[in-house]
Amino acid sequence: MAMKKIDQETVRKILDAADIVEVVSDFVSLKRRGANYVGLCPFHNERTPSFSVSKARGFCHCFSCGKGGSPVGFLMELEQLSYVEALRYLARKYHIEIKETEMTAEEREAATERESMLSANEFAMEHFERNLTDTDDGRDIGLSYFRERGINDAAIKRFHLGYAIDRSDNLLAAARKAGFSDKILINTGLEIRTDDGRMYDRFKGRVIYPVIGLSGKVLAFGGRTLRKDKNVSKYVNSPESAVYSKSRELYGLYQARTAIAKKDKCILVEGYMDVISMHQSGVENVIASSGTSLTEGQIRLIRRFTTNITVIYDSDPAGIKASLRGIDMLLAEGMNIKVLLLPEGDDPDSYAQSHTAAELESYLQENEKDFISFKTSILMRDCGGDPIARSKVISDVVRSISVIPDMITRNVYIGECSRKFGIDEKVLTLQCDKLRAERAANPRQAREQADVEQPAGNTLQAVPPAAPAGQAHLSHASGERRAKMLHGFEREVVKMVVRYGMVDLCEAYDEEGNPSSMKLIDYIDSELSVDEIRFDNGACRAVWEEALALRHATWPQEYADFLEAATRRRSESVAAGEEQIRREAVDLADIKRRELMLLDSTEATYAREIEEFASMFLVRYLVNSPDDNIRHLATELASNRHELSKIHSKYTNLGTERDRLPEIVPQIVYALKSAILDYNITQIHGEIAARQDEPGFDPTPLIKRLIDLSAMRSELAHFLGDRIVAPPRKC
Ligand code: CTP
Ligand code: MN
Repeated sequence: MAMKKIDQETVRKILDAADIVEVVSDFVSLKRRGANYVGLCPFHNERTPSFSVSKARGFCHCFSCGKGGSPVGFLMELEQLSYVEALRYLARKYHIEIKETEMTAEEREAATERESMLSANEFAMEHFERNLTDTDDGRDIGLSYFRERGINDAAIKRFHLGYAIDRSDNLLAAARKAGFSDKILINTGLEIRTDDGRMYDRFKGRVIYPVIGLSGKVLAFGGRTLRKDKNVSKYVNSPESAVYSKSRELYGLYQARTAIAKKDKCILVEGYMDVISMHQSGVENVIASSGTSLTEGQIRLIRRFTTNITVIYDSDPAGIKASLRGIDMLLAEGMNIKVLLLPEGDDPDSYAQSHTAAELESYLQENEKDFISFKTSILMRDCGGDPIARSKVISDVVRSISVIPDMITRNVYIGECSRKFGIDEKVLTLQCDKLRAERAANPRQAREQADVEQPAGNTLQAVPPAAPAGQAHLSHASGERRAKMLHGFEREVVKMVVRYGMVDLCEAYDEEGNPSSMKLIDYIDSELSVDEIRFDNGACRAVWEEALALRHATWPQEYADFLEAATRRRSESVAAGEEQIRREAVDLADIKRRELMLLDSTEATYAREIEEFASMFLVRYLVNSPDDNIRHLATELASNRHELSKIHSKYTNLGTERDRLPEIVPQIVYALKSAILDYNITQIHGEIAARQDEPGFDPTPLIKRLIDLSAMRSELAHFLGDRIVAPPRKC
């Protein structure tokens, strides 16, 4: 096979055409943020987007792992392409014709083995496709099989379905003729060499499902036998190779990616045919794990496009129970999971084939359940009235809840679970926190159970350790212990400040009763000051103090300047608009109407600009701070700030984090206060226990203090409870 190279002029054309946002969007779901776009970095596993794409600069960059680059650089790095391959990819994408010149010997040498394997696979795919439509065997056996299963031509084309002729060297002969070396054919797994050196086709007499990677490259094949014979294995699959790692691919993702991103949701099924049938009937956001349970790599792949997954099960109870564990892994990765059970005897393929697209859609919509309640009902079904079995189920469900990274989501589920089992929420929360604390204390086991990268302190893991009776004097280590216990809580508070510090949290009233608004940072400042709380954690304290300084020293002037400019822009745009109205209006009524519209729209723009300025103010300074501590923590806390913290369940109406600030922020502040009280209470308990045998020790003052603290604690809990149901109007 002759290797070609691309001439300089074409290279220029390709580079000019390549739009970084469009290129990256084929792999990562991007959301607009100001002048840039952001998404989850495809180069490393992350939960909050730090991958930023600048359309203007034609460049992408991950602020967390540092990878990225130009369109070509991005493709080379992500898809492990050579420079020429990346250019070809772009040329195909932008329909630029490549005028090719013959490669020199060295250049041919330089074409990597991977590249050759991919082109061998591509050749094989096209060969199998031609077999299906252009040969008698293909039509009689392969095509008629697909017809029988209700697959139409469009789907055959879209999924590049094919047929492998039932002969040992059908592909081999064609591939050799096209110039592919035996070595490459063996490396891809298309050919198998016996011990005596004979070569034969891996796929024979089977229909072929190519596995296509996100870049559109053919990575592997699955071949299904058409025989009923139980001795023939149903599927033959390509082996792992330099271009194919089964645990890192998902069947159908290439065809489904746009629909997944658009619907912000994907549906997970088991088999090739399930994907194709559903896709054909109009539900396109479907992918298959190909018969194995999901791996972390596959979850990461899905996460680039969405965090919402619906897993479809056929109603085989044994299979369902076996797969429940695997889903905990999805939960731990922060995925929002729903589950759908098909009617007895159906699988996704048969259901899609026997129903209209509309029926399929509405079945999906009406029957998906959130995973926790699904798991609960499946497990409860079997335990009847047995209280021990029942309590096992509850523990199991709480364990699932405890792996969910997001605190709010956990709380929602705990509430649900409490109602369902009739168990006090506090008890479940305690159990849940205990599990989290255990995992935090034993990260190895935690990783085995959940396999999550857990940024230190990101969780409310600071559960007070039971008072160690006997040795609990205010020991030297106690300051450190306190800092450690409170770190997670402090972090949550600082996160709100970094993300939304200058946002107006709520209406407040001054002494005269005039309404004025209160900024989030001021609210937190007043709450902390009242109780003389300082952050124990150094980085949290540094960020907090810097934020306060910015708010008081920098903000007033900058805000005034900004306001002046924004006001000027507003009056300019009103003037320009009126000018236009005078030119175009037909009568007085028309002028009135247009003027109103003009005022509305300029007013809206003005308000939006101010809001944007305020919400970006702190974070912009903090993430650029020369202080490493401040910059790192702020960057970490700021990422994801415009992301909805969506809760993909029947609780979808919870809305975005931004919308719910009046509700969330007091909750977070009071959680910190509660934790501090808990810590103090534990300390005093410990002290009493340690000193009770001392001659002449009078515990009365300590006990009095204990009573005070407990009263505060329950007041807080009460207040916190109020806040949760009714977001404050006044602060
Ligand atoms: N699978 C496999 N090897 C097997 C059996 C199954 O790789 N020996 C994978 C395939 O990806 C298959 C999926 O597991 O698509 C689900 O298996 P199964 O339900 O048995 O097959 P279906 O895809 O449903 O096949 P069909 O509907 O054509 O019988
Ligand atoms: Mn099937």
